[in-house]
Amino acid sequence: GSETDTPVWVFGYGSLIYKVDFPYLERRPAHISGWHRRFWQGSHDHRGTPEAPGRVVTLVAEAGAVCVGMAYHVRPDVFAHLDHREKNGYVRVETALHFDDGSASEGLVYIAAEDNEAYLGPDTEEAIARHIARACGPSGPNRDYLIGLADALRQLGADDPHVYAIERHLLALT
Ligand code: BEZ
Repeated sequence: GSETDTPVWVFGYGSLIYKVDFPYLERRPAHISGWHRRFWQGSHDHRGTPEAPGRVVTLVAEAGAVCVGMAYHVRPDVFAHLDHREKNGYVRVETALHFDDGSASEGLVYIAAEDNEAYLGPDTEEAIARHIARACGPSGPNRDYLIGLADALRQLGADDPHVYAIERHLLALT
């Protein structure tokens, strides 16, 4: 194939960790540095609606932070699918991916920055849990997204106090 057929690493830190509806050549646990996972992005198209957006994760820059996720080695045409799936405010950013064996690769990650239309920004973890408990969209209840992500992060052995605290608050509500 040509140069444009060269596979690319994409780093998943949200639903890409546990909802894999695309082909990949290889999948490996990985982390990226300098970013925190936060439930600060609004979802108009998956876990909420334009009138009542859900809350999903994005990455927020912070020196010294580490974000654990799953890396997928994919053919470039997979991005047409992912760009559509992640269109609600996310843009691709290049980053270094670090694998558990100490090796690293360049890759891409989808980030929703605070200047996108769907951005909701910070709130207390308890308020975020209450928000997630009532939101629902075409992909299903916002609650299922949170629980699916928390379960996947536990399987990865990820230390993520923000996600686990929101899950604890949500489970205490219901
Ligand atoms: C992710 O899992 O990395 C992801 C999922 C949806 C939008 C952006 C990123």
